[in-house]
Amino acid sequence: MRPRVTIVLGLQWGDEGKGKILDVMASEADWVLRAQGGNNAGHTVEIGGEKFVLHLVPSGILRAKVSCLIAGGAVVDPAGLVREIEGLARRKIRTQGRLFLAEQAHLVLPQHRAVDQGSEKKRGLAKIGTTGRGIGPAYSDKATRVGLRAGEMALPAAELARRLRERVMAHNRVAGSQGWEKISATKTVREIEKAARFLRPYLADGVTLAHRAVAGGKRILIEGAQGTFLDVDHGTYPFVTSSHCTAGGACTGTGVRILIEGAQGTFLDVDHGTYPFVTSSHCTAGGACTGTGVPPTAIQRVVGVLKAYTTRVGGGPFVTEDGTLGHLLHGMGREFGSTTGRARRCGWFDAVLVRRAVQLNGVTEMAITNLDGLDGLEKIPVCVGYRFERKILQEPPVESSDWARCRPVYRVFEGWCEPTTEARHWKELPRRARIYLSAISQLVGATIGIISVGAGREQTFRHG
Ligand code: IMP
Repeated sequence: MRPRVTIVLGLQWGDEGKGKILDVMASEADWVLRAQGGNNAGHTVEIGGEKFVLHLVPSGILRAKVSCLIAGGAVVDPAGLVREIEGLARRKIRTQGRLFLAEQAHLVLPQHRAVDQGSEKKRGLAKIGTTGRGIGPAYSDKATRVGLRAGEMALPAAELARRLRERVMAHNRVAGSQGWEKISATKTVREIEKAARFLRPYLADGVTLAHRAVAGGKRILIEGAQGTFLDVDHGTYPFVTSSHCTAGGACTGTGVRILIEGAQGTFLDVDHGTYPFVTSSHCTAGGACTGTGVPPTAIQRVVGVLKAYTTRVGGGPFVTEDGTLGHLLHGMGREFGSTTGRARRCGWFDAVLVRRAVQLNGVTEMAITNLDGLDGLEKIPVCVGYRFERKILQEPPVESSDWARCRPVYRVFEGWCEPTTEARHWKELPRRARIYLSAISQLVGATIGIISVGAGREQTFRHG
């Protein structure tokens, strides 16, 4: 029997192809619940050559029979959500009666974007590389218990306006000294009230909805956004005082992408401050439970989505980063962020990283994507350990600054040098691709359940 409640999440730094895998898995689902994050996420789904990019709305919306919930663990930019729903309506995707917004979810307000963007500017070269969507400041207000929740959009207009003005004034009082842009209270009230009128029919008690679905034996997918190593607890958080550049790729510590062609292995001290390179929510399996209110005991399956190589956007350590691979993938038109359009940093598959993600999330099976990205390569290195101060580590170090100083220990696989995009079955993959995938599975300690060889729905098949 197919498991009823499944978590689907990313095992790397986000952008693993979760949107596509969720869309495929949603053909056998009744509900998709988005657990955390906000419109910093960008889930891309291609159906019959048509491309959909979703930021807050769960990918399940593209399957007519699936109901979707943006759960309480998410943070919601009301105007952004309205734009997304309107965009879906223009493409004849019905949301009324099948998309719900949890009253428990916190709101991302204009001042959150101002703080996010202003703080990044102030950090200069040491910026985190956030999406600028106000995510961190919104979660910060939630944690300090001054946030507004989606349910408050149903308040009488005068009361909602009062609460909004109060928040904007508190922001404006400190904005000047912090280098943040001041916000107009009138404009904020107008923007949020307009969005609130539109979104009210979508509001629901998210926890009750989720529990009814569990109790009713519905098939539920819990959608994680971002990825394990952007988790505020388990990501590359700890403060860095200086960091180093590995491989001939981008400079990890600065958040500035400096291409140093041919300078593989050069160390560049950056010494640029103390910033944590994570998002502000819990992108791991535990976060899927707290975000939705679905208890851990209800979870029967955890599908970890990962790329056949590694990418990340924004700053932070990236041991297997490789400028040449990045160059190649960007040249193929791949690996540009769907939310910000930024070119993603690219590197080889990092088994140390994914092994840790498998442990953290209790992964029961993996969905591996973008295998076709490696089709043209003669040699494919896989990182099997980290060299750090004369030791070989099998786990990532706790400190980001140490992590940034690790060098990859590679095992090199023979490339298959032929297209995988037409494969629809394990046996149709080139022999060397099968060897590569089996080795990855063994190295990280989890079985591969789904393989994706292209952006289309049909370019996905089950294994095992
Ligand atoms: P924030 O979530 O906008 O605060 O950004 C914090 C870090 O997480 C930055 O490095 C972002 O590039 C990264 N990030 C946030 N959302 C995503 C995502 O959906 N995919 C990949 N990286 C993300």
